[in-house]
Amino acid sequence: MGEPSPHGPSPPLHNPPSTPLEAQMADTLTITDNRTGTQYELPIKDGTISAIDLRQIKTDSDDFGLLSYDPAYKNTASCRSAITMIDGDKGILRYRGYPIEQLAENSTFLEVAYLLLNGELPNAGELSKWENEITHHTFVHEYVIRAMDGFLHDAHMMGKLVTFIATLSTFYPKSKAVRDKATRDEHIVKIIAKMPTLAAWCFRHSTGRPYLYPDNSLSYCGNFLNMLFRMGEQNYKPNPILERALNVLFILHADHEQNCSASAARAVGSSEADPYVSLAAAAAALYGPLHGGANEAVLRMLREIGDVKNIPSFIDGCKNGDKRLMGFGHRVYKNYDPRAKIIKDLAHEVFAVTGKNPLLDIALELEKIALSDEYFVKRKLYPNVDFYSGLIYQAMGFPVEMFPVLFAIPRSVGWLAQWQEMLDDPEQKIARPRQVYIGADERDYVPMDKRG
Ligand code: CMC
Repeated sequence: MGEPSPHGPSPPLHNPPSTPLEAQMADTLTITDNRTGTQYELPIKDGTISAIDLRQIKTDSDDFGLLSYDPAYKNTASCRSAITMIDGDKGILRYRGYPIEQLAENSTFLEVAYLLLNGELPNAGELSKWENEITHHTFVHEYVIRAMDGFLHDAHMMGKLVTFIATLSTFYPKSKAVRDKATRDEHIVKIIAKMPTLAAWCFRHSTGRPYLYPDNSLSYCGNFLNMLFRMGEQNYKPNPILERALNVLFILHADHEQNCSASAARAVGSSEADPYVSLAAAAAALYGPLHGGANEAVLRMLREIGDVKNIPSFIDGCKNGDKRLMGFGHRVYKNYDPRAKIIKDLAHEVFAVTGKNPLLDIALELEKIALSDEYFVKRKLYPNVDFYSGLIYQAMGFPVEMFPVLFAIPRSVGWLAQWQEMLDDPEQKIARPRQVYIGADERDYVPMDKRG
């Protein structure tokens, strides 16, 4: 049978539970294979059965055994995780047990990063040491600036960011020692510290502005704003409301359990690739418009709608499948995304500083109509984190291409927490799904002159 079951062996059932009640109480699942009439009893642990336990279900000794089929992992848990908990039906999100609302209200991003990576909130000494470590690794090798100039002036910022995260792998070959905890910790710090610098340089390259170096006297978010927006000022002071807003946005985006990009980080990392290339793969997954590229797509959609009076025809387009209401819907949330609620409130605080984003009225009306429309109600489609975040980013002066980059910076913490957990998990191995082969049977090679 190859791989052992994480729950131990589960032989065919010789003494099936005599009553349905007994079977119910046994924390097992009884399966009857109607092809053979054989019954099997599989253990249920944490609300799951182990897919490898299905392999014993065979029609005869030549049969490979039963596989579970689950394209896009719609009902498959790929790991045990203690990092992030989502209850999609209730609209609940917690990091290490702490409700996202409380963290957004009371924490800083770096405090949350510590929590996600270490499992507990830091005490004052731990936090100050952590902040100090991050602050002193913010500088990035000058060659990145040289390489940046190899890109076209209109290269997408996320394309550049993916490239430069991977490039750091070549600067830090020792990071390949992924089983060594001290090495791992060293590169976790480096990545979190350098992401804002890389992101800011991608932005400065695209906007034709000179690259700026980190200012270690500023906070994580304050320094990021500095590297993005400072021009001739001697003493740049980030606006405290915008700095706080960025902190909150970073907290909300820091992790989201086994999403597409976290799964990419885990899958690539499972081959023991170094953390830089594992995270570059995760960032590439985030780039797609169905994932972290959705905030960019929301802005383009709102611009395309252009006016509140065009909303009904846009909604009709969504219902007949021509359009997609970007920033709506989620694989896990079948309720209002709790992050979207926090961002909606935050938007008003930001607009008090920056002036209101004129697209807000379209977004609010779109939300109102969609939430009362039977198509969206029936499918439980609610605003997700990306619906309002782009409006804030745009009001703060970011071009739309920067939006997925702004998602990637905080999410790198989640990727690292997931990657680290995967490496420490004795149940994990190199990720290697099975397939159901539906191609041609064996056939003989056809020479060119015999092909039609
Ligand atoms: N607009 C219109 N219809 C939709 C939408 C939408 N945004 N999302 C889902 N549907 C419909 C879909 O057509 C399907 O209808 P039917 O049952 O008639 O075929 C039904 O709702 C179920 O959708 P699905 O595509 O099977 O759901 P999924 O779990 O595979 O997809 C999703 C989840 C997030 C990819 C999808 O809802 C979507 O494309 N949303 C827009 C993109 C977006 O906002 N993405 C950001 C997600 S949150 C941040 C992140 O994870 O990065």
